[in-house]
Amino acid sequence: MASLILENITKSYGRKTVLDKISHMFPPGLTLLTGPSGAGKSTLLRLIATAEKPGSGRMIWDDTPLPAGRAALRRVLGYAPQAVDLPDDLTAREFALHIGALKGLDRVAADRQFGAITEAIGLHADINNRIASFSGGMRRRLVFAQALLGAPQLLALDEPTAELDGETARRLGALILERARTAAVIMTTHLADELAPHAVAMLRVEAGRVAAA
Ligand SMILES: Nc1ncnc2c1ncn2[C@@H]1O[C@H](COP(=O)(O)OP(=O)(O)O)[C@@H](O)[C@H]1O
Ligand SMILES: [Mg+2]
Repeated sequence: MASLILENITKSYGRKTVLDKISHMFPPGLTLLTGPSGAGKSTLLRLIATAEKPGSGRMIWDDTPLPAGRAALRRVLGYAPQAVDLPDDLTAREFALHIGALKGLDRVAADRQFGAITEAIGLHADINNRIASFSGGMRRRLVFAQALLGAPQLLALDEPTAELDGETARRLGALILERARTAAVIMTTHLADELAPHAVAMLRVEAGRVAAA
């Protein structure tokens, strides 16, 4: 099991400092990020998912500092961004098999995993339909399902339960907790209070700084 360490991470856009010297160790288990809109949560998750680079500071995955550790991190990463443009022309299953291939999964394994995940979150009946026909909640579940493919050891989830009804959100929560038994899972969610008893840490992000919540 591997941990992610952030040391003095700073990120600015133009003159605006969005993340201000963030240091934290994310061990295996669930870490919840809370905090007001605009606090920097999504930016922090983008950095953790290596979708963007920090302006300064250091990330260390499984004892190897980035950039040397980046390839190893990406091999075991699952990422569900807060907002993503899905390929409307593909079916959900075609999209998932494409993501699975990028993650190095063989097609049969990816198909089996995607089937099981979508079964658990009530999306299975729709996986052969084009994404163009999907509602916001279905898109959200598809983004979540692709993140979970390949049993990631580092899972960054940005509002995966938004737009979902309570029952469906709880089903996602169960899968997330199962993964968090071995993976470092870092997520923002409006269900933070419900998941908090199962979390290793709950952090509050405010104006680009992080404190224990
Ligand atoms: N690509 C970007 N360019 C400029 N400003 C950005 C960019 N991404 C985020 N920001 C700004 O950074 C701040 C934090 O945003 P964000 O990380 O999305 O916060 P949260 O997810 O907590 O709502 C906001 O003020 C936002 O406007
Ligand atoms: Mg956000």
